[in-house]
Amino acid sequence: MAEREKVTVRKIVNLKGKKPIVMITAYDYPTAKIVDEVGVDIILVGDSLSMTVLGNPSTLQVDMNDMLRHTAAVSRAQPKSLLVADMPFLSYEVNVNEAVRNAGEFLRVGADAVKLEGGSEYTDVVKALTRAGIPVMGHVGLTPQKHKLLGGYRLMGKTAEEAKEIIEDAEAIAEAGAFSIVIEYTASEVAAEVTKRVKVPTICIGSGPFCDGQVLVIHDVLGLSDASPPFTKRYVNLKDIIASAIKSYKDDVENSRFPPEEMYWHMKDGEYDKLLNMLRGATSPEP
Ligand code: KIV
Repeated sequence: MAEREKVTVRKIVNLKGKKPIVMITAYDYPTAKIVDEVGVDIILVGDSLSMTVLGNPSTLQVDMNDMLRHTAAVSRAQPKSLLVADMPFLSYEVNVNEAVRNAGEFLRVGADAVKLEGGSEYTDVVKALTRAGIPVMGHVGLTPQKHKLLGGYRLMGKTAEEAKEIIEDAEAIAEAGAFSIVIEYTASEVAAEVTKRVKVPTICIGSGPFCDGQVLVIHDVLGLSDASPPFTKRYVNLKDIIASAIKSYKDDVENSRFPPEEMYWHMKDGEYDKLLNMLRGATSPEP
C-alpha cells in the first residue's frame, strides 16, 4: 500500500465540503502510532490530558511542561496525521508575546499547529501566531478552561443572544487567521450556522452533525474514562479488557504458571556447579 502523505494545514482547509474531517486525541507514543496508522486526519494532544491521563479534576491544572512533554511523545510517532497541540490555561492569555513564545515551543517539539480556546477577545493572539508562522485552530462554544466563568460544563448557544455571540466569535477568529475551529457542546443549529458562515472547517464535539468534522477524546472512545460527557460514544470497553488481562497475569503468577519453561534460560553446562564451588570457597571462615 502507498505510504500516506503528510496531512498539512492546507489539506485540512481544502477538506471543507469534500469529506468529513476525523480528529481524535492522543497523548503518548504508542497510542499516536495506532491512531495514525488508522489514518485519522488530525491528532489532538488535548489539554483533556489533565483529566484522562493525569487524573486532575479539570483542564486548569496542566501547564506548558505537561503539554510539551506529551506533544513531544506523540510527535516521536512521526504521524502523517496533522498534529495539533492544545495551549494550556494561562499560556496565551497574559499577553501576545508570551502566547507567541509558548506556541512556538509546541512547533519546536513537533506539533504542526496549536489550538486555543476563545473568540473575539483573542483575535490579536491568533493574528500574532499566524504572523509568526504558527497555524492556529480555534475553539468556541463550551470552552472548558473557562468553565468557572461560564457556570459549569453546560450546553452553549441555547438562546439567540448566546448563539449570536458564538457565531461572531467563530467569524472573528476565522477572520484573524485560524485554519479551523472546534465547536464544543453547542446547540446544533448554531454549529450549522457557523459552518455555513466561515470558510475554514468546523470540527464539532457535542454540537451535532452539521459540521465539517468531528472530534472525540480517545479515553471516551475506548471506555477508559471515569466519567464521559453525554455526547461521546464508547466504541469498546477497554477498561474491562485490560482488567481481564491483568487478572489472568495475576492468576498465573499466584499459581506459578508464569513464567513458563520457554521464558527462562540456563547457564552453560557445568557452570552452575562451578559457581557453587566458587561460592563455597568464598564463604568467610568461622569467627
Ligand atoms: O482537550 C481536548 O481534548 C479538547 C477536545 C475536547 C476538542 O479540546
